[in-house]
Amino acid sequence: MAKKEFSVTPYEVKGSVDYEKLIKEFGTELIDEKLLKRIKKHTGELHFMLRRKVFFSHRDMNWLLNEYEKGEKFYIYTGRGPSGKMHLGHLLPFLFTKWLQDKFKCKTIIQITDDEKYLFNNKKLEEYTKQGLENIKDIIAVGLNPRLTEIMIDTYNSKTLYNNAIHFAKRLTVSTVKSAFGFNDSFNIGQYFYTSFQAVPAILESVRKGKNVPCLIPLGVDQDPHFRLARDIYPKLGYYKPAIIHSRFLPPLQGTQGKMSSSIAESAIFTTDNKETVKKKVLKYAFSGGRKTLEEHRKYGGNPDIDVSYQYLYQLLEPDDKKIKEIYEEYKSGSLLSGELKLIMIEKANKFLEKHQKARDKAEKIIDKFLIKD
Ligand code: TYM
Repeated sequence: MAKKEFSVTPYEVKGSVDYEKLIKEFGTELIDEKLLKRIKKHTGELHFMLRRKVFFSHRDMNWLLNEYEKGEKFYIYTGRGPSGKMHLGHLLPFLFTKWLQDKFKCKTIIQITDDEKYLFNNKKLEEYTKQGLENIKDIIAVGLNPRLTEIMIDTYNSKTLYNNAIHFAKRLTVSTVKSAFGFNDSFNIGQYFYTSFQAVPAILESVRKGKNVPCLIPLGVDQDPHFRLARDIYPKLGYYKPAIIHSRFLPPLQGTQGKMSSSIAESAIFTTDNKETVKKKVLKYAFSGGRKTLEEHRKYGGNPDIDVSYQYLYQLLEPDDKKIKEIYEEYKSGSLLSGELKLIMIEKANKFLEKHQKARDKAEKIIDKFLIKD
């Protein structure tokens, strides 16, 4: 692959993603200062992931806020495909969802797509469902409010999903799916149908209420293609297009190519990793933006923009702007060494995970409060 080439689909993220180019390719809009101001007017403060453009792009956020300002509350929808354990990257959209839920007091629907992972991978269906229940603990652990949050597992809620998905599927052609996801004739027909399932929660509140309710979907930008199709089809069925807010990817430990992915175990820090494992992984794999020798590093400084430890701190683990700026400057000037930066990140990651794992253990007892029945 040529140096600048990259590709982003829900099923593969390859290369070094150029987010500005991606905005053009996907036809989304950059989150600019004007929009941030508008959001801040309602939230009082901005989440650091917004301030730092970790959430960098959107579709129809201005429309959503227009509706909100007219008194039309929106709900949030996001999801997880339980292919395996969750990693730090997966937490990004859920942590942001929790913030949105708190600030806008909105209802939230989470979809767990065990069916999707079965259709696209090789384990038994029951194993994905079981993994889904494990992942739900991580999702609850971010602090979602049980009174405002509903979690649906596709195989548990198949009636609700199927009865709505058929209207969508009727309008979705094979050729559209092929061009959106790059599928060919050897893909199974469940894979072709699947987007119709992922699209349903984007209109579910409208179906339930018998009137259109705006929906906002926070997600990693790889999931956007599903909702591009949803935004084409739903107006034809009389529904609003869902608004979307996209995050960048937390990179894999090995560097800024692709994304942290649970299918490559050594690329990821999992939410259940213990302190020793985190330390070992980071020391062994985390790509460094440091110079070859200590002398050169002191003289020319490191490159935080490609340093994975710095990126994890920036995107997730160090919300304090003053501290992150100091780390940036010290690393760039050469006074902070790569090994030292790794140790800062390891400590932050382990603190973060200690808190998360405690909340995760507690979540086990309250899963039923979140699951919805068909
Ligand atoms: P899944 O399980 O692949 O990912 C769950 C969410 O995490 C995001 N994500 C990441 N974000 C930042 N850095 C990373 N390295 C990273 N890896 C994954 C994904 O973009 C996603 O937001 N089909 C979906 C499940 C789903 C869904 C949805 C997702 C169903 N309905 C609505 C978003 C919105 C899936 O397999 O996601």
